[in-house]
Amino acid sequence: MGVVGCGGMGQAHIKNIQELPEAQLAAVSDADPETAKKVGTEKNVPYFGDYRKLIKSGLCDAILIATPHYFHHEIGIAAFKSGLHVLSEKPITVTVAAADAFLTAARKSKKVFGVMFQQRTLPEIRLAREIIKSGRLGEIQRTLMVNPQYRSQAYYNSAGWRGTWLGEGGGVLLNQSPHGIDLFMLLAGLPNRVTAKTRTKIHKIEVEDEAAALLEYPNGAWGYYYTTTCEAPSATLMEISGDRGKLVLDNAGLKFYSVKPSISKHNATAKDMWGSPEIKEEKLSLPKSETGHKEIVRNFCAAILGREELIAPGAEGLWSIEFINALILSGKKNKPVEIPVSRKEYDKLLDGLKKKSKAKKVKKVERTTDPRISK
Ligand SMILES: NC(=O)c1ccc[n+]([C@@H]2O[C@H](COP(=O)([O-])OP(=O)(O)OC[C@H]3O[C@@H](n4cnc5c(N)ncnc54)[C@H](O)[C@@H]3O)[C@@H](O)[C@H]2O)c1
Repeated sequence: MGVVGCGGMGQAHIKNIQELPEAQLAAVSDADPETAKKVGTEKNVPYFGDYRKLIKSGLCDAILIATPHYFHHEIGIAAFKSGLHVLSEKPITVTVAAADAFLTAARKSKKVFGVMFQQRTLPEIRLAREIIKSGRLGEIQRTLMVNPQYRSQAYYNSAGWRGTWLGEGGGVLLNQSPHGIDLFMLLAGLPNRVTAKTRTKIHKIEVEDEAAALLEYPNGAWGYYYTTTCEAPSATLMEISGDRGKLVLDNAGLKFYSVKPSISKHNATAKDMWGSPEIKEEKLSLPKSETGHKEIVRNFCAAILGREELIAPGAEGLWSIEFINALILSGKKNKPVEIPVSRKEYDKLLDGLKKKSKAKKVKKVERTTDPRISK
């Protein structure tokens, strides 16, 4: 595997690749020649300043892309065209139109396309998927996700691309929240209409650091979503309420409440004025599973070898982009927005924001990732 982008996250991936029997680090690339040289020399592999040279080198069967988001699809498409497999960092790109192009290139190449949604490996998520698949939740009636993820101004000041429309293409929705959004879409499905508010509340950045939305689903269900980098502690609260039960996921874990008989049946048949269906918190037994970034890389290699299905297929990376673009567009227009998002309208919005965006100079570029995930 070749790693393109040797910053905080790329270096954590390099460590994982070197520890996995299924993978071998073959080359690295970084747009900053000093970083490429430093990491390549340290790891004793060929290094390239230009990712195109790594792709054409013939050294790699697959690449892992860990650059800022705007480059993910460009680099991924070039790799697919050269017959390489691709594992992209999240988000797979910035816009729905670019995601479409990425997915088309992957389909045409018939190569494996994965996305680094490592939270899908969590036992709670694996079990929640099983519960929903088994029908025990019933038809979804209402959803909620509240997912604050605190970041300081120092974080935004650590690299020129962060917090700008030109360098990043979005704020908390596009950088900090894709994992939570992916899980939300994976478990509850995509809404078909969102009405959002977005704003920049406490940070000196161009992009949003707070977003809230009312969601409408194709079956008529409603939901709510909230994220921010302004609030601590960072937390996850997800609720998916169905006709036959309710799933609650928070930092303490997963809970499932069964509802018997179903709400629709109880509502139609109950004679007692104050009656309620029987609610029972079911005892859950979490599956034993490997978790984290390393598990996604291992699974990606196993998929290339034809041994496993992907845990996080790249094509499913489009779901979170639809959601993120819809919220940003709705926030900017102050109007409801339909999903699928109009590719033309979103591109026009982003082009306008990029035109007004100012290049950001930083005193010292930091290439370190969150120490809680690099361990
Ligand atoms: N999955 C996760 O848990 C997780 C965590 C952190 C970051 N990420 C994602 O990883 C990506 C990188 O984030 P980071 O925190 O490592 O950023 P970073 O700034 O630390 O590193 C980015 C690196 O990419 C290099 N680069 C920029 N353009 C390039 C290009 N065209 N070709 C090659 N190299 C290029 C930069 O020089 C830098 O070294 C982002 O998309 C981010 O969302 C994912």
